Amino acid sequence: MSTQYQMHGDVAVITLNNPPVNGLGFATRQGITEGLAQANADAAVKAIVITGAGKAFSGGADLREFGTPKALQEPNLLSVILAVENSSKPVVAAVHSVAMGGGLELALGCHYRIAAPGCNVALPEVKLGLIPGAGGTQRLPRVVGVETALNMIVSGEPVKSEILASLPGQKLFDKLAASPETLAEESLALARAVADVRPLPLVRNLPCKHPLGDAYFQFARNTVKAMAKNYPAPAKCVDAVEAATKKKFDDGMVFERELFVNLMLTPECRALRHLFMAERAASKIPDMPADTAQRAIQSIAVIGAGTMGGGIAMNFLNAGIPVKLLETKPEALERGIATIRKNYEGQLKKGKLKQDKYEQRMALLSTTLNYEEIKDADLVIEAVFEEMGVKEAVFKQLDAVMKPGAILASNTSTLNVDQIAAFTQRPQDVVGMHFFSPANVMKLLEVVRGAKTAHDVLATVMGVAKKIKKTAVVSGVCDGFIGNRMIEQYSRQAGFLLEEGCTPAQVDKAVEKFGFAMGPFRMGDLAGNDIGWAIRKRRYVETPNLKYSKTADLLCELGRFGQKTGAGWYDYQAGKRDAIPSQLVVDMIDKHRKDLGITPRKISDEEIVQRLVYSLVNEGAHILEDGIAARASDIDMVYITGYGFPIYRGGPMQYADTVGLFNVAQSMSRFAKNPLDDAEFWKPAPLLARKVAEGKTFN
Ligand code: NAI
Repeated sequence: MSTQYQMHGDVAVITLNNPPVNGLGFATRQGITEGLAQANADAAVKAIVITGAGKAFSGGADLREFGTPKALQEPNLLSVILAVENSSKPVVAAVHSVAMGGGLELALGCHYRIAAPGCNVALPEVKLGLIPGAGGTQRLPRVVGVETALNMIVSGEPVKSEILASLPGQKLFDKLAASPETLAEESLALARAVADVRPLPLVRNLPCKHPLGDAYFQFARNTVKAMAKNYPAPAKCVDAVEAATKKKFDDGMVFERELFVNLMLTPECRALRHLFMAERAASKIPDMPADTAQRAIQSIAVIGAGTMGGGIAMNFLNAGIPVKLLETKPEALERGIATIRKNYEGQLKKGKLKQDKYEQRMALLSTTLNYEEIKDADLVIEAVFEEMGVKEAVFKQLDAVMKPGAILASNTSTLNVDQIAAFTQRPQDVVGMHFFSPANVMKLLEVVRGAKTAHDVLATVMGVAKKIKKTAVVSGVCDGFIGNRMIEQYSRQAGFLLEEGCTPAQVDKAVEKFGFAMGPFRMGDLAGNDIGWAIRKRRYVETPNLKYSKTADLLCELGRFGQKTGAGWYDYQAGKRDAIPSQLVVDMIDKHRKDLGITPRKISDEEIVQRLVYSLVNEGAHILEDGIAARASDIDMVYITGYGFPIYRGGPMQYADTVGLFNVAQSMSRFAKNPLDDAEFWKPAPLLARKVAEGKTFN
């Protein structure tokens, strides 16, 4: 039952009951309208209360219906709200915990509203590239004022009920209950108190004005434009709220609907909705029951207190979980601790962290040089040098000392996790946890599933990721896992672009205009060009026929490793991170072209972007086919959270779907004919070719 109907004396109570958050799916909507009809037909009913069971009043639309015809099936939300408004007996919304999106819109259609304190109230549609579509933009300004409403609608952020209830002149809540526990009783009392009021008050009849009129909306429009340049929805929020102040209520509703429907069709909205679902999908592992038991994780050990070890430790300290850092030398421990302190102190200075929180976190951190002292940790994460020999020694030690059932994780970025697991007698307990640098900041965690990794280990690590607020994506074992395996092809292609005529700055600019946080060369300078160099040296031996541009090697031979050496693809001034185009590098590339007999040509931004993004897409298709990623949307999550791919484009695979896979394949075959590019490189992955032939998409 998605709703319950109960009599409490002369009051009928309709309780939404659609866990987890009483989403307004078809059955729930139907339950509400049926309950209203029943209550209106029953002479014993004097008033009606609508409330929610469990953890919410209502979180809004039911995600399981997202994008399906069911979402629109009558009674749709607009009809439900109309039925509430038209009830001949007063309807009181008793809201608590969560009243968001359609849930809040439903409450706004009620004649009266009572809220429990602590309720999160929001219209978060903008986060999915939309505006509220069931009257939120027309009703909310009428009860909390234009400015408060617009701020809430444009940001999508929740505001606590007690704060809204304290706004001068607000009409959102007729009453704030003393506590969540007394809400039920107080709502019945309110219902009885208003049982005989006629005509019934409707939010739609309230006036809606801003004292500054047009000037205010002009200001709001400018602010929104500056903040949300690649997203159409925020500006439409302004338009919709302005309409509430200028149009008759019903005309405003039609206008809101029009904007909503048009936004629904934009690629940005599709991208945001895709990512919303992708994030949820990523936590599900296809061949594993969702309720797989997790091991308890109460303490962590981190081996290696370098760049990654320190950042990894901070994640757990921030989540209130004790960490013991293990190193080989006291100096290394001291350095590691000093870096963690410096990091936290930076946050203190910026006011992002309070002194007492800082002290609490540092108190959770301890150090050791001795494996005996970490043997009881529930999870140990290794972040030592990237050398198999060093990893072997560490994992043999861990196998010897760690308690049974401890999870042994490696942060390796390139080594074979199965080989690492084989150093132990308990490969089922070994897993990869590939953090991204800086590990305390970057959202992405690639969870590398070894051939023998146990289900409960995987489930536990996914749970741990959630606790430390990471977006975890499962990757199979392969060189580079999902993200770096794809970026290698992207970097190779970037090298070909230089040889053919581009400068690093031109490539970066084109890609940044497309929306990437950083182009490939600025990214190389940040991460260190020596990392790619080391990988290429390996490739030259492993796959001697693979074509590479030598430009990056020439750069590294000059010692230009990037920001850390003060020079890379760009020049850097001491202490600054601004990338200054380097004449020396431009000359170096020129000379290299001359040596190869290449006459440079002008390459359009469009071609640059296509060649780089489609490099990702084609390798992504290989990764899917190989079963390294479970679904295309996992690849999108990796690129959005770990590689600065523009959010409003939804990730490389989603972007390819938007462009059309046929068009992607056409462009690839054109690039393959370019004698200076690499025909082999552009051979479509079999999965891509199949999708094109079948007229299908990745997502
Ligand atoms: P790092 O050189 O900054 O730190 C390594 C630390 O491990 C050093 O403090 C060293 O003293 C310590 N160490 C070495 N051998 C040890 C042993 N036997 N026992 C205990 N401690 C030992 O290196 P970084 O960058 O932190 O990398 C660590 C691991 O993380 C590597 O596997 C690397 O591939 C991986 N990784 C690195 C990323 C990065 O951007 N730096 C990103 C993702 C993964």
